[in-house]
Amino acid sequence: MKILGIESSCDDTSIAIVDSNKNIIANEVLSQDNIHRDFQGIVPELAARNHVLFIDKILSKILSKTEININQIDLISATAGPGLIGGLLVGLSFAKTLAQVNNKPFVAVNHLEGHALTARLSDNVNYPFLLLLISGGHTNFYFIKNINDYYNLGGTLDDALGEAFDKVANILKLGFPGGPKIEKLSQKGNKDLVKLPKPLINKRNLDLSFSGLKTAVLNSYATSVTKKKYKTEDIAASFQYTVSDILCKKLSLAIELTEKKFFNFKNIVIAGGVAANNFLRQKLKEEAEKNNKSIYLPPTNLCTDNGAMIAWAGYELYTKGIKSNLNFEARPRWPLEEKRIN
Ligand code: KG4
Ligand code: ZN
Repeated sequence: MKILGIESSCDDTSIAIVDSNKNIIANEVLSQDNIHRDFQGIVPELAARNHVLFIDKILSKILSKTEININQIDLISATAGPGLIGGLLVGLSFAKTLAQVNNKPFVAVNHLEGHALTARLSDNVNYPFLLLLISGGHTNFYFIKNINDYYNLGGTLDDALGEAFDKVANILKLGFPGGPKIEKLSQKGNKDLVKLPKPLINKRNLDLSFSGLKTAVLNSYATSVTKKKYKTEDIAASFQYTVSDILCKKLSLAIELTEKKFFNFKNIVIAGGVAANNFLRQKLKEEAEKNNKSIYLPPTNLCTDNGAMIAWAGYELYTKGIKSNLNFEARPRWPLEEKRIN
């Protein structure tokens, strides 16, 4: 089967063609970073307008590049939530129209499910697996028992981790989006100079919190500027290291709690935009190996938002009998653990 996947839940417009043998035939991502940079964050209305402007052009581009005719597509899937309502409506309406006009089956996909199942596309990971999803909008542990059988184990009580990276980059005047900038600058910094708090690290549950950490960065930056105590790169390195320490401790706890609640398992998956961070990847890998687990991290271009993950999740759902009606509505909020019936 050839599956067309459409993603427009945030600021990236992406369309991909994936086949049922896990080949990514095309995966075109149009970033809007240049548009939102001046505002140091995503402006929902601008994001929606730009999805409208480019979505049809991206489809034409991948169809002509791959020399695939729309008639050769067997299934159309699109992100229906969670995300920014304007962007969701653009991608979802576009996908439904394509499905109706070309008489193709349609599957609405939960964006988080796209991230969750990416490692099955890229690395052939078997169910079940423990998932740490770290993105711009979500930071959560899940136990992924099987397709459409997901358990929420706990996560952030305030900011998502990507959001914290972006806000810290903003404080340090590094630009937008912040994650990659902090990663780069950290390489030149000393992670031990600036002491930052690790909220909730000793709590025996999977609650996370990043807003206090962000405030501590703000205070450290004020000190470093006025008293020239440390450099911006030291703060960046310390922030990134502190985050890695929190995630590693909670990952070990997540393994322990999941095995107590369910059963022993082998695989761990880290997904979402923040999982593109090489420092965090390395630290989480070491932590998983310490716990005798196999860890899977999708290639960095499949960690950030993309259409391929939506195509793949749509395919997995379809093979389990899930097919969506063309009146499926966009859902700005949509918990991953909610069971699907259509
Ligand atoms: O998954 P994603 O593309 O979109 C959402 O679903 O939210 O994640 C975007 C987030 C942004 O906050 C961005 O700063 C962060 O992922 N990010 C990173 C890195 N690359 C992207 N954070 C840390 N290090 C990176 N290298
Ligand atoms: Zn995402």
